[in-house]
Amino acid sequence: MSSDKKRVLVTSGLPYSNGRLHVGHIAGAYLPADIYVRYLRLTGREVSFVCGSDDHGVAIMLTADKEGKTPAEVAEHYHKLQKADFEGLGIHFDVYGSTSQTKFHAKTSQDFFLKLFEKNYFEKKVTRQHYDESKQVFLPDRYVKGTCSFCGTPDQNGDQCENCGKVLDIDTLKDPISVLSGKPASVRETTHWFLDLTQFQGAVEKWLQHAEMRDTTKNYVKSLLAQGLVKRSMTRDISWGIPVPLDDPEAKGKVLYVWFDAPIGYISNTMQLCEARGQKPEQYTEWWKSPDTEIVHFIGEDNTIFHCVIWIAMLSAEGSFQLPKAVVVNQFLNIKFPDKEVEKISKSRGTAVWIGDYLAEGGNPDVLRYYLTAIAPEKARTVYKPEDLQLRNNTDLANTLGNFVNRILSFTLKHVGSQVPEIDSSLISAEDRKFADCLKSALANLTEQMNQFAFKSALETIMEFSRECNRYVDERAPWVTRKTDMERTKVTLVYSLNAIKLLGTVLTPFLPFAAEKINGCLSIQKPNWEDAAQPLKSGTEISAPGILFSKME
Ligand code: 2FM
Ligand code: ZN
Repeated sequence: MSSDKKRVLVTSGLPYSNGRLHVGHIAGAYLPADIYVRYLRLTGREVSFVCGSDDHGVAIMLTADKEGKTPAEVAEHYHKLQKADFEGLGIHFDVYGSTSQTKFHAKTSQDFFLKLFEKNYFEKKVTRQHYDESKQVFLPDRYVKGTCSFCGTPDQNGDQCENCGKVLDIDTLKDPISVLSGKPASVRETTHWFLDLTQFQGAVEKWLQHAEMRDTTKNYVKSLLAQGLVKRSMTRDISWGIPVPLDDPEAKGKVLYVWFDAPIGYISNTMQLCEARGQKPEQYTEWWKSPDTEIVHFIGEDNTIFHCVIWIAMLSAEGSFQLPKAVVVNQFLNIKFPDKEVEKISKSRGTAVWIGDYLAEGGNPDVLRYYLTAIAPEKARTVYKPEDLQLRNNTDLANTLGNFVNRILSFTLKHVGSQVPEIDSSLISAEDRKFADCLKSALANLTEQMNQFAFKSALETIMEFSRECNRYVDERAPWVTRKTDMERTKVTLVYSLNAIKLLGTVLTPFLPFAAEKINGCLSIQKPNWEDAAQPLKSGTEISAPGILFSKME
């Protein structure tokens, strides 16, 4: 099977189910993945698009404390809200499971752990850890705050200093306070199982040579590898999670580290997907262990080390799974409200645009998809500006794209009829041919950009093509020529309708709702990427879409 015909398993990083989704989440790991999946499907590839909520870990426990709920209640509540947000934006996963609910998840994670254990890749070690005497619990990193001993900044999380960026640990976090009780944390000894990543440094380096990813990501992963891999604890002293599956009294009450079980969620959710498709869950191996399938992960920047180092080491250690072909990483999105400085998106500071609010206020999902792709933080962090979204909607979508599509279809219906007319080929001019060439070159450029995950550039190519379409009709002025030369006018209209056909197909990944309307107006039920620049057949029924994008005030 040639490489470009392989089946593709696409995953988006499993979001923590402890809050609502904002524009930063969507721009990071979800919208680009959905665009890629829709593109692959247009090319005829068989794809499975897998995601689900990441329900374990400290983040969920902290929210549970704050909201006076159990972690399971928090996970279930936000899982539902997030799922609805994705659906509202047209982000269609084939499966959206959950690491606490998907029935295959706990066993798959435990089996994975045991396989590594049996292969002797874990080291059991006694470590020192913060402890809350009043609550009688060990405190994972994010449950302790203190002063950074490198730069003296107070109120830092137990794992990293926000000010100087240095990694903090039990010896470098001064005056530790328990987040749970607000009281000083003590230190106690506890036993954990450490995965010896040093043994997989070579495997990760080898994978990195061929793995597809953006240069920024590759350089970052190289810098991590240059520091040398270490042994990392894969177990935790918390009550919420998957029990450590060892018959060892010291493993009692401990759970798997959330970053151990979360990526295994991609596998367990694939099992769920197979079952939902009426197959045996074991058929997940066709997606994970077959050389005919490629795996592509989409993630946000903060997940890079976990996917490009630890996950690759885990898979290499386990030995029977394929390694991902590509890891597509987007950086964070910042935000700028009118009359304010550029800020980080933050729930606690209230600096976010929530997807649920956007949709509830009647926001058009395609407009948000368009804007988030136009400003996609593919190579560096970018800034979301609400007034910029409005401007782009009014200029790019309403004036340029919607206007071209609507005026050509309405004009054709009014002056020619409801079918694509026959044209007299002797009337085709050099300008018409040049315009037809534009369709082919736009499609060729787009194909290359989509294959390179360059979605922002691809969208620019589509917009530049739309501007070219407007230039073409403005020059050919069918509203003038129809009065004197209807046959000539038909040529302009047919060439323009062919351009709309191309737009309907190539917009499908980006603006699926508008594209469906456009395709419907040309009687296209199943758009196909390779045929997008092929002319419409004469006699094809057409209709007008009405206003595709309303102007925003
Ligand atoms: O950053 C996050 O939201 C994590 N829950 C992502 C997990 S990705 C995967 F490994 F599941
Ligand atoms: Zn510091």
